[in-house]
Amino acid sequence: MASAHTADVLVASNRGPVSYEVHEDGSLRAKRGGGGLVSGLSAIGPDHNAVWVCATLGDGDREAVRRAGGGLLPAEETGGQRVRMLDIDAAVFTDAYNGIANSVLWFVHHMLYQTPLEPIFDAGFRRQWAAYEAYNQAFAEALAEEAADGAAVLIQDYHLALAPRMLRRLRPDLRIGHFSHTPWAPPDYFRLLPDDIAAELLSGILGADRAAFLTRRWADAFTDCCHAVLGPGIPSGTRIGVHGLGADADFLRERAHRTDVNERMAALRAEIGEGRRTIVRVDRTELSKNIVRGLLAYEQLLEDRPEWRERVVHLAFAYPSRQDLAVYRDYTAEVRRVAGEINSRYGTPGWTPVLLHVKDDFARSLAAYRLADVALVNPIRDGMNLVAKEVPVVSDEGCALVLSREAGAYEELGEDAVVVNPYDIGGTAEALHAALSMAAGERAERSKRLAAAATALPPAQWFLDQLGALER
Ligand code: G6P
Repeated sequence: MASAHTADVLVASNRGPVSYEVHEDGSLRAKRGGGGLVSGLSAIGPDHNAVWVCATLGDGDREAVRRAGGGLLPAEETGGQRVRMLDIDAAVFTDAYNGIANSVLWFVHHMLYQTPLEPIFDAGFRRQWAAYEAYNQAFAEALAEEAADGAAVLIQDYHLALAPRMLRRLRPDLRIGHFSHTPWAPPDYFRLLPDDIAAELLSGILGADRAAFLTRRWADAFTDCCHAVLGPGIPSGTRIGVHGLGADADFLRERAHRTDVNERMAALRAEIGEGRRTIVRVDRTELSKNIVRGLLAYEQLLEDRPEWRERVVHLAFAYPSRQDLAVYRDYTAEVRRVAGEINSRYGTPGWTPVLLHVKDDFARSLAAYRLADVALVNPIRDGMNLVAKEVPVVSDEGCALVLSREAGAYEELGEDAVVVNPYDIGGTAEALHAALSMAAGERAERSKRLAAAATALPPAQWFLDQLGALER
């Protein structure tokens, strides 16, 4: 079993910094992830005894936990981090993750339901909710076991909304923070949830000393929900914080100039063709990212502004995500269908208007960032959207940013972006035209200011700020 009561800093999240695959010969391969939490935990230095608690997401992870005897994973596989992966029962995980977290909470906060058919809160939903409680309880218990006296615990996201209160009950001595990486729904939408569930979710997070969000807008929505659902609102013991996670400029600039990225740039240039402008998008194939409307806006641009035909290419990278859910599989198919339709309608022997890539390739994403004349970031709603922040940092010549006003990044980047209402396809087509037509000097100036705003709070500092704010 894991060493008990020794960690002074703890992070809890559904997806950990490492995942495992079982190969045919029975060997396990560990794959390390990146992101703000990984940089943050590396930044706190060796004086701390930090532990990251996460869930097993598949058979490879379960096998790794079995081989580690349920204790910490081998440090050489985790990039030196002390990781405790919880072997959550597969059926419980499916109900908690696919059922509640991704099909209910994600949908509520991104306002994705297509009423009147959805949502359905029936007996099946209640079973999934019980699994979500069990999943949160498993995290709370593991954290209570690992944490030293008075330790700081940073609990992440909508998967773990109940864990702060559960942990508080087990260990009143701990300093607990909760961070939401998603938007927070306004009260009228949040109250689609059954009243008892809405109250549980809010009280769960209010079990923390501090509840933090990516933007002021999401923090205010949370406060409004507390007033609407719980009446008295935020108890005096819980503080509300805002930390706008920024892009990691040092890492990105170094990584984007390595050989593999240069090779992919050459390949992409050959695909795009000489002298053409490039509109780039890079997303998980995620309903909230609004990829289909982005394609339709591009199509309308080609229709309304024929001068751009043959002169522009849309590089659309849409990496499959959450494919266990039928609605995501359908959406992935729809993205392919619409891209194919645009190509057959407008394409010519020497010009493919949309280059759709679906195989996740970080080096190729960076290559596209460097080549981008225009970045298209048009989510319906998004907690922050780091692509909007990363492209201006990496692009070689400076890029124009077409940005949805519903992305958290809008709060910091809105002034120098071409801002769109993500539902307005005609307006997005016009924004693409304006971005493509922007004079080179203005584009470079704006791109510089976007990059400066995007890197104001690098991931390591973002993490340290949260930790600092938990000091009593
Ligand atoms: C969002 C969430 C993260 C999550 C990520 C990927 O950014 O805020 O918590 O890790 O999506 O989603 P997935 O379901 O693949 O973990």
